[in-house]
Amino acid sequence: MKKIVVFTGAGMSAESGINTFRDSGGLWEQHRIEDVATPEAFRRDPALVLDFYNQRRKQVIAAFPNEAHKSLVTLEEKFDVHIITQNIDDLHERAGSSKVLHLHGEIRKSRSSVDPSLIYNIDGWELKIGEKCEGGSQLRPYIVWFGEMVPAMAEAELITQSADIFIIIGTSLEVYPAANLVDHASEKIPKFLVDPKAKPLHWINNLEIIKEKAGVGIPALVTNLLNN
Ligand code: APR
Repeated sequence: MKKIVVFTGAGMSAESGINTFRDSGGLWEQHRIEDVATPEAFRRDPALVLDFYNQRRKQVIAAFPNEAHKSLVTLEEKFDVHIITQNIDDLHERAGSSKVLHLHGEIRKSRSSVDPSLIYNIDGWELKIGEKCEGGSQLRPYIVWFGEMVPAMAEAELITQSADIFIIIGTSLEVYPAANLVDHASEKIPKFLVDPKAKPLHWINNLEIIKEKAGVGIPALVTNLLNN
């Protein structure tokens, strides 16, 4: 069975009503990263950070997988599909994708603020001040903040190195080390980029750019891949 690796960003969930970060009206236009998405921000004002993620968690719970999420699941009929996502929502899982690796964490989970191995599911949308891990420390969102290591990066690179097909969906490729993942796909394999505002990526060989929204471009690409 051929292996397809799909690398997704916020554009994957845009048609599910979840804000991207750098489009006009995106999250980083409404909030300063240093106020809500760094370890220093959490130390300085944990209530503000928890509220930022509580609001986003509410949005994720109210959202549904879109046609692009669902069509990636049908790829599994014929291919060994690995989703590597920068997204912290659970829409790939809720659509039915069986192999999903989150590089930047998962919004519906929390973790100890002193022991990263202590991870918990969050029931509902709210994580509050005073909710503590079994070690007695305040729980924080299970999110990789700016300036923190990306623990799943090595695993993601390994998965990507043996891909037969590589698909990039809805990412500005502006955040590292996640954006480096593209360089771990073999030069020889076919690659696809689905993004309505895709820019040419001259350094990537064998790349076909599909300047469409994910909800349009992915179902068409999946049909193509399943029928050839
Ligand atoms: N379909 C496909 N792509 C889309 C759609 C859509 N409907 N709508 C927007 N896009 C594209 C945009 O053109 C842009 O290239 O999705 C991309 C979104 O880019 P960003 O907002 O920068 O999101 P992302 O690349 O996922 O950000 C990476 O930055 O803030 C951090 O941790 C956060 O994981 C995030 C990381």
